[in-house]
Amino acid sequence: MARHQHAVFADGTRAHHHIEFRVRPGIDRAAIAQALVEVRTASADQHLGGGTHLVIAFGHRLWSSLAPDRVPEGLRDFPGYDNPEAGHQIPSTQADLWLWVHGAGPDTVYDLASAATAALDGVAEITLDQPCFVYHDSRDLTGFIDGSANPDPDDAPTEALIPQGAPGAGGTYAMTFRFEHDLDAFGLLAVEDQEKVMGRTKPDSVALPADRRPADSHITRAEVADDAGEELVVYRRSVPFADATVQGLHFVSFGQDLDRFDRQLRAIYGLAEDGVVDRLLEFTRAKTGSYWLCPSVDDLDAVAPLPAGED
Ligand code: HEM
Repeated sequence: MARHQHAVFADGTRAHHHIEFRVRPGIDRAAIAQALVEVRTASADQHLGGGTHLVIAFGHRLWSSLAPDRVPEGLRDFPGYDNPEAGHQIPSTQADLWLWVHGAGPDTVYDLASAATAALDGVAEITLDQPCFVYHDSRDLTGFIDGSANPDPDDAPTEALIPQGAPGAGGTYAMTFRFEHDLDAFGLLAVEDQEKVMGRTKPDSVALPADRRPADSHITRAEVADDAGEELVVYRRSVPFADATVQGLHFVSFGQDLDRFDRQLRAIYGLAEDGVVDRLLEFTRAKTGSYWLCPSVDDLDAVAPLPAGED
């Protein structure tokens, strides 16, 4: 049975750091694989010492070059989405490698993020470098709890991992976006109107009853089903970022395939049959967008094995 990267599901961590890389031109597979061995070694040491977790994920191009026999059919680059009539778009800024470091506090997260970045120095350049934090009881900076509809922790691996027996088993697909918010505009709405934008109550995240939930509310748009009407479940781990001038959400979601992400994005961006646009887009704008494969530990071992005694 293929083992998954436990760090995808490690819960309760309050400090996060997302780093994306593009491999430098002319770097060969062996050099990247060696750098990844060093990244994994740093993580194995830190995990034992500091309870800090690392998820390693790949864009289509890099994973196809490192592990051509282990590429699940569905893996592809993020295409970007554009609804020019509504004035909403989500760009593709697809990179090669995404590291998600998370732990109890910013000190150990910094240690591991800087060790991993040092290991990749020379072979890859950083294209996104974003420390994030958990805000109160897992709230987005709009003040709404984010993650209420996630599967229970016991069920999350079954729901989000590529099933055993399928190509890429034990891995999971992911999608990430950097959303920058207009909190001033959102704050001008009365709380009752904010709740209509999200589709849930603000203090305790209770879904509004169907007759009070507008068709363009966020949860109405984001909840999608397959052609047989079966809900397509995802597991979200988004976290806010903020400084004095820019505030937003680093959106992170995992699932068994990329097609469910495509359905969600079409529904949110008004590209589904009903053409309805998610009202939340009036208050936030995506600046980056990527699809990823987080391979199983077995597939990582095949590409960048940990030295003996480090696992
Ligand atoms: C800045 C952007 C976003 C913010 C602030 C945001 C915030 C929220 C909040 C507050 C909820 C309700 C609580 C919960 O169930 O977690 C929610 C639900 C959800 N969001 Fe988002 N979200 C954002 C973008 C997205 C995007 C881009 C997607 C997918 C492409 C998405 C997918 C979902 C899903 C699947 C749910 C659960 C719906 C349900 O079944 O109730 N979100 N989001």
